[in-house]
Amino acid sequence: MKITIINGPNLNLLGTRETDIYGSQNFESYLDSLKALFTDVDIDYFQSNIEGEIINFIQNSKNSNGIVLNAAAYTHTSVGIADAVKSINCKVIEVHISNTFSREEFRHNSYLSPVVDGIIIGFGLDSYRLALESIIKGG
Ligand code: DQA
Repeated sequence: MKITIINGPNLNLLGTRETDIYGSQNFESYLDSLKALFTDVDIDYFQSNIEGEIINFIQNSKNSNGIVLNAAAYTHTSVGIADAVKSINCKVIEVHISNTFSREEFRHNSYLSPVVDGIIIGFGLDSYRLALESIIKGG
């Protein structure tokens, strides 16, 4: 089974960026713990600060069993990423580390939520594990 994790802009700075909101662990070390937890899953990881690169990667991930997508700030702005999600048949779970609904108003809107299969918000980095669990469980 192959699961693709896609992180959007500024998530390369996890561990040092706004640690009061996003915590002090970087994504690479968290990814290692996910791989150790899900040894039977081929976890593919991509991060980009560039909208078009994220769109290209979504299009190229259509053969994955599922995509865990944290589009970060693009969540609230990108019709292009939403259209890319709509263009593929594979399951897509939107995740956010922080509870976007307890933050600024502009973070309450997601262009992705109406087009994804499920949403996991506000569990810190554990949001990613929960998304993986749901893809592995299927349904
Ligand atoms: C985020 C929430 C977004 O509003 C923000 O722009 C991010 C991270 C999260 O995981 O909590 O960069 O997607």
